[in-house]
Amino acid sequence: MYVGVLTGGGDCPGLNAVIRAVVRRGLQLGMKFAGIRDGWKGLLELSVAPLTRESISGLLPRGGTILGTSRTNPLKNKEDTEKLTTNIKKLGLDCIIAIGGDDTLGVATKLYKMGINTVGVPKTIDNDLSATDFTFGFDTAVSIVTEALDRLHTTTEAHHRVMVVEVMGRHAGWIAVYGGLAGGADLILIPEKPFNMDEVCGVVRKRRNEGKNFSIIVVAEGAYPEEAGGMITKDTELDAFGHVRLGGVGEFLAKEIEARTGIETRHVVLGHLQRGGSPTAFDRILATRYGVRAVELAHEGKFGRMVALRGNQIVDVSLEEATGETKTVNQELYRIASIFFG
Ligand code: F6P
Repeated sequence: MYVGVLTGGGDCPGLNAVIRAVVRRGLQLGMKFAGIRDGWKGLLELSVAPLTRESISGLLPRGGTILGTSRTNPLKNKEDTEKLTTNIKKLGLDCIIAIGGDDTLGVATKLYKMGINTVGVPKTIDNDLSATDFTFGFDTAVSIVTEALDRLHTTTEAHHRVMVVEVMGRHAGWIAVYGGLAGGADLILIPEKPFNMDEVCGVVRKRRNEGKNFSIIVVAEGAYPEEAGGMITKDTELDAFGHVRLGGVGEFLAKEIEARTGIETRHVVLGHLQRGGSPTAFDRILATRYGVRAVELAHEGKFGRMVALRGNQIVDVSLEEATGETKTVNQELYRIASIFFG
């Protein structure tokens, strides 16, 4: 069996560990692999290279993706869709293993419905894919946020300031809640729960009145004030899947807090730092388990499926089920986090 492997969407630590696991297990099963460059774009441009035992050597701890990635939507128009299907035939691929988030796997779902064999591996540091308990990359992002919060605590306390820390999380505040819980945030703001500026300032003032003259606020990039009625964006341009570039809520909050409370406030945007560097041990193991099972699914002819973590078991679910809806932060977890607010 000849299998194409691609990574699509935003990169995240653990992608290379999946590629390594797919190829290592697949070679044992007698399969052959093509690495498709830059996500679906590589299939439109026929940009592929063999993945061999040698080319995947040393990948386990390496961040990024040796295949490159892009946010190309190959089904955007009829011409590209035709080019894509023709090229898949031209290359003689029996199956494509797509490693990606909602958008990349959405394409894999559609291709499967069009008669092309696909298997999905869930990836997003946002951890917002509904069919799996965890995506790899998330744990690494949380550990980076936690370390940043530890460091920001000392300088914020020394200057008696408020520090607003903006983290990733477009539609779901998983990184904010996990990172904020682990790093002892005094307030966590998430997209699922629009915030109220009076309440935010109330928390800062209350802490000051109680003798705590610094505050750390973690905000997910997709969080927004009730009165704004929608996310704060960098610009209005949309990517191929219709997403705007988020960013700016941290700066907005810092300015508002300082203006309303008179307390010196700074903001930090952790941005792509959260996606860079080596995966944690948890993510390396999860990525490896996903990769092994994904290639085994292909070998067993179980197409249109995605590997997923349920409890401590790797299972497989239909790609359609997996790409249906966003997994938002559960209320119980946010309740626990909020016990420590103020
Ligand atoms: O989807 C994952 C993610 O990291 C989001 O949290 C973030 O909004 C986005 O990607 C950033 O994308 P880009 O790499 O295009 O700046």
